[in-house]
Amino acid sequence: MAHAADIPTPALVVDLDRFERNVATMAAFLRARGKAFRPHAKTHKCPEIARRLIAAGAVGACVARLSEAEVFAAHGIRGLLITTPVIGATKIQRALQLAIAAPDTIFIVDHEANVRDLDAAAAAHPGVVLNLAIDLFFGRTGIPPGEPALALARAITRYARVQFVGLQSYDGQAAHTAPFTAREVRSTGSLARAVDTRRMIEATGIACPLVTGGSTGTYRIDSAIDGVTEIQPGSFVFMDLEYGQIGGPDSADYHDFEQSLHVLSTVISRPPGLAVVDAGFKAFSTDRPFPPAPVDMPDLTYAWAGDEHGRLDLSQSTREVRVGDRIAFVPPHCDPTVNLYDQIYAVRGDRVEGVWPIAARGKSQ
Ligand SMILES: Cc1ncc(COP(=O)(O)O)c(C=O)c1O
Repeated sequence: MAHAADIPTPALVVDLDRFERNVATMAAFLRARGKAFRPHAKTHKCPEIARRLIAAGAVGACVARLSEAEVFAAHGIRGLLITTPVIGATKIQRALQLAIAAPDTIFIVDHEANVRDLDAAAAAHPGVVLNLAIDLFFGRTGIPPGEPALALARAITRYARVQFVGLQSYDGQAAHTAPFTAREVRSTGSLARAVDTRRMIEATGIACPLVTGGSTGTYRIDSAIDGVTEIQPGSFVFMDLEYGQIGGPDSADYHDFEQSLHVLSTVISRPPGLAVVDAGFKAFSTDRPFPPAPVDMPDLTYAWAGDEHGRLDLSQSTREVRVGDRIAFVPPHCDPTVNLYDQIYAVRGDRVEGVWPIAARGKSQ
């Protein structure tokens, strides 16, 4: 299949020109700021995209889950950082296998009991030392910055089979705070606490080479902070409706990145005053309060019409819509939308240049 017109719908489509500009923009910005770039693969779950990001200068990839890490490692991606703690004996055994295959993998911890379990499991594998970063708490997981994090860093140094490599400082609320000025206040405040914690740790003689954090919403803010070493944004490769609405430094739109991801649908029925498309709850994420937006059709509003169906109200429109027409939508939220698909069609103009497996799709364990 070489023509976009032949893509079976509903389908996930990435506009390669836009995607490549998004990648180049972020990579160049962080390079100019002297920050490492470890983009979050929870957004795309796609080894081909991770490879392209590394070719653009990324030091590796963040992943949310162990099972995502296993998929990316099996596809040759290195420099993995698992941004969620790995808890429980079975997963810890898998983490050890991963660390044997990909020794530069970084694991996140926020509790000494987890450190002890990881260390004990590593003891069964001579020569294996696990890299641990401490997750700081800003509302989701983690240990509070300051004294509690320092105490945990000290504890890590007492175990022989793990080594402390730094701090993760991800404030998910900051990423989506609007307007930009409020986001700036929040993210700067969170990262200042992370950088202070780094200073406290280093003052005790423990090296803390890594302070990683940030997001698509905050990368400009976070990369301006001394002491932050690495930025881990995800959604910028695709963008989505929510990120399009939060506003950037100069405007109410978020112009740094382009909407490169679309759900392509087909009109399958034309009841009076309606166009029914083959994309419903199973085609889009539903966690955002607004519906998918038809591309270049501001006069049409999407309404959910079931698992496999969506409805466009034509009663106020003079637009001609026929059965068989293709309609593309910007999804409300990119990450959970991507997780609904096995593959992504990479399109330039009307040509399909590639069909990329979303190999870590459904890997939430
Ligand atoms: C730990 C962590 N880092 C980075 C990101 C990337 O954020 P965004 O997709 O908003 O750029 C996420 C997203 O949820 C995350 O959980």
